[in-house]
Amino acid sequence: MEQKVEELRLKFEKEIAATSTAAGVNDLKISYLGKKGPVQQLMRYLKDVPPEKRPEMGQSINNLKVHLTEKCENALNRFIEEEEGARLAEEFVDVTLPGRRHYMGREHIITKEMNKVIDVLISMGFTVQYGPDIETDYYNFEALNFHEDHPARDMQDTFYIAPDMLLRTHTSNVQVRVMESSAPPIRIISPGKCYRNESITARSHVFFHQVEALYIDEGVTFADLLYSLNEFLEKFFGRKLETRFRPSYFPFVEPGVEVDVLCLLCEGRGCPVCKKTGWLEILGAGMVHPEVLKNGGIDSEKYTGYAWGLGCDRLAMIMNGVDDIRAFTENDIRFLEQFA
Ligand code: FA5
Repeated sequence: MEQKVEELRLKFEKEIAATSTAAGVNDLKISYLGKKGPVQQLMRYLKDVPPEKRPEMGQSINNLKVHLTEKCENALNRFIEEEEGARLAEEFVDVTLPGRRHYMGREHIITKEMNKVIDVLISMGFTVQYGPDIETDYYNFEALNFHEDHPARDMQDTFYIAPDMLLRTHTSNVQVRVMESSAPPIRIISPGKCYRNESITARSHVFFHQVEALYIDEGVTFADLLYSLNEFLEKFFGRKLETRFRPSYFPFVEPGVEVDVLCLLCEGRGCPVCKKTGWLEILGAGMVHPEVLKNGGIDSEKYTGYAWGLGCDRLAMIMNGVDDIRAFTENDIRFLEQFA
């Protein structure tokens, strides 16, 4: 038995001396000291050794085990160090390489333009009120004087979630909510997302952004509406823009107008975005309908008001020379980066 221990030690010494890699030492360690290896086998033979010799033999096998383990650990550490050193020596730092680019999140161009609109209107004395994107039929339509058979209430134009629940089609849904919770004078704006079940074209999308303005007080007139609109447009664009006011119909205002600005994309010559008219409709406006004031609990004999709702996506198109509204939501990083 003693001899077997010595033979095993010598065989191991030879093999480890011939090993030149960390992986090789690991294999050797497993083959000698693993469960099925020769050292464990020697342990199993111990039971055949006469009892009086067993402690001495046990000690001898244990010593062999410790010796083999130590040798393997030392060789392993040496090879790992050598291999790491060789790897580092091979590594070459090319200081002339350009740095890796980190992409930073940034505001979307629509958010930027919308914030500009909000800032201008705050400077004109309006405060901001937000409303829900998921809205009841009442606040989006009924309270705003839309008849039951108005085409906008049709499933074709509106995304209904339940018979009485829909994705708001405009930010005018905030009007009656604000009237219910505050008394005149009311001077608020409500920015947000709107949704319409429309066909997607270069100038229209199913998902877009509006900022609504609402002013209610004693003696508010159509002249105030025109003044505030012109004032806003001039402040926003930083210069006097050619605008066109067209009579229009919205159930919640009387009278109503739509406002076009000269299409800056084609300078009025006509392009697909302005439908070859040279003008781009950016907002709807009008004097708040007395029925709507009543629905909001406001005395329509005493108070009058104006409201207007502006499309931010179209504004962003004009301001940035973008000729297709779809580009804003396609998430092409090359397009979005231009507005960093
Ligand atoms: C309205 O939504 C009214 N709530 C505006 C209003 C408010 C009128 C207060 C009177 C008083 P209209 O559907 O015209 O109106 O939309 C207003 C603006 O939103 C449009 O001028 C346009 O700039 C933008 N807009 C409307 N539909 C789309 C669409 N599908 N895609 C992109 N922008 C749109």
